[in-house]
Amino acid sequence: MLGGARLAGAVPVAGAKNSALKLMAAALLAPGTTLLERVPAILDVEIMAELLRRLGADVAGTGPGQLRIEVPQQIGHQADYDLVRRMRASISVLGPLVARVGRAQVALPGGDAIGSRGVDLHLAGLEQLGATLAHEHGYIVARAPRGLAGANIWLDFPSVGATENLLMAAVLARGTTVIDNAAREPEICDLAQMLSAMGAKIDGVGTSTLEVIGVDHLEPTHHTTVADRIVAGTWAIGAVMTHGDITVLGAVPAHLELVLDKLTQAGADVDRVGGTGGTDGPDGPDTGFRVRMAHRPRAVDVVTLPWPGFPTDLQPMVIALNSVAEGAAMVTENVFESRFMFVNEMVRLGASIRTDGHHAVVRGQSRLSGAPVRATDIRAGAGLVLAGLVADGVTTVGQAFHVDRGYPGFDAQLRELGADVRRVPDPYEVGQE
Ligand code: UD1
Repeated sequence: MLGGARLAGAVPVAGAKNSALKLMAAALLAPGTTLLERVPAILDVEIMAELLRRLGADVAGTGPGQLRIEVPQQIGHQADYDLVRRMRASISVLGPLVARVGRAQVALPGGDAIGSRGVDLHLAGLEQLGATLAHEHGYIVARAPRGLAGANIWLDFPSVGATENLLMAAVLARGTTVIDNAAREPEICDLAQMLSAMGAKIDGVGTSTLEVIGVDHLEPTHHTTVADRIVAGTWAIGAVMTHGDITVLGAVPAHLELVLDKLTQAGADVDRVGGTGGTDGPDGPDTGFRVRMAHRPRAVDVVTLPWPGFPTDLQPMVIALNSVAEGAAMVTENVFESRFMFVNEMVRLGASIRTDGHHAVVRGQSRLSGAPVRATDIRAGAGLVLAGLVADGVTTVGQAFHVDRGYPGFDAQLRELGADVRRVPDPYEVGQE
């Protein structure tokens, strides 16, 4: 891509990757036909569809963003390593499978580029619900031949994945489960809403204490995925970095309050759009927000934390922003310990960043300088793309397949907003993750 772009125009956001994958796993809980809307067109959705097919489900796209999942009465119980290693979110079938089949065998995902990402909290919680667990040949084998039983579970950390897995297990357990210190991300609320529509009894949605009264069986439902707040936030930061003017449509401003507030502190004008009258609901296609920036942004300190804190998934973009801002800022990463690995790629573009443990001090530069860099994960890739948009000359982001995993049609959308971006063959591309 060529630097010097000013991003301007309107851009729609699709459903959240981090929600859609869990909603697909939740479909396993009810035999019959589940319909999901606003599913993003990304590789991870295809991987999850393949995983569900191997478990016996029939998964088909029935229109733009629409997925029909037919789940038979009898389903399998195994998630193979070849799929789990390509997509960590595969672990989210663990809870639904033990709950529904009384047995699950899911490959351990292993580490990745942003941290060790354990699953100990998922496993400890399932044990408390009465499953017996074993590690066998790289697989987690969970057994609950007589079903799961409600329990009081305290999570050491409000893990998104563990909360989701335990929620999906608890809805079919006998009796009451309380998950304390639960994660409360909007994607968790989205999942809880779908489960409730399926007949689950869940209290405390949106708080850190979830109370679940188990039911005998669930019915399939028709559900629309929540908007992707991380993609929406990426556009917002892109508008600020490029002194642009972007209207993000379909986004829920309330899911980005802290992020938009930081951008206001950086000097941007942020306004909500739509949302009054009409029948589109809070995240209908005509509602969202507009971010305008007329001058060089001021540096902003950011601390990532579980919701409602600043999302770790937007940390690389905020580092990119601070790299070209006026002044210096401290970015603190509290969620994933290796999430500063991409910083060396930013430095290749001329950014001044010093990391010490989970802190990064970023000194804003008046210019960055285009270079070939490499995306190490989805969000790092998006951060590098934003930096490339404001760097002098040409920046090539290698391993762009990472970016595609979180941003459906990113390059086309960037072009529509005025950027000079092209997809070129990547000589280093290897099919991994
Ligand atoms: C999800 C999102 C990811 C996002 C993250 C935090 C998906 C596919 N991914 O990841 O994009 O960045 O939420 O909002 O939905 N941990 C443990 N043991 C566990 C579980 C987690 O130690 O059993 C640790 C992890 O190593 C990490 C932290 O807790 O340091 C957060 O992980 P978690 O909230 O579970 O994130 P994910 O669900 O993996």
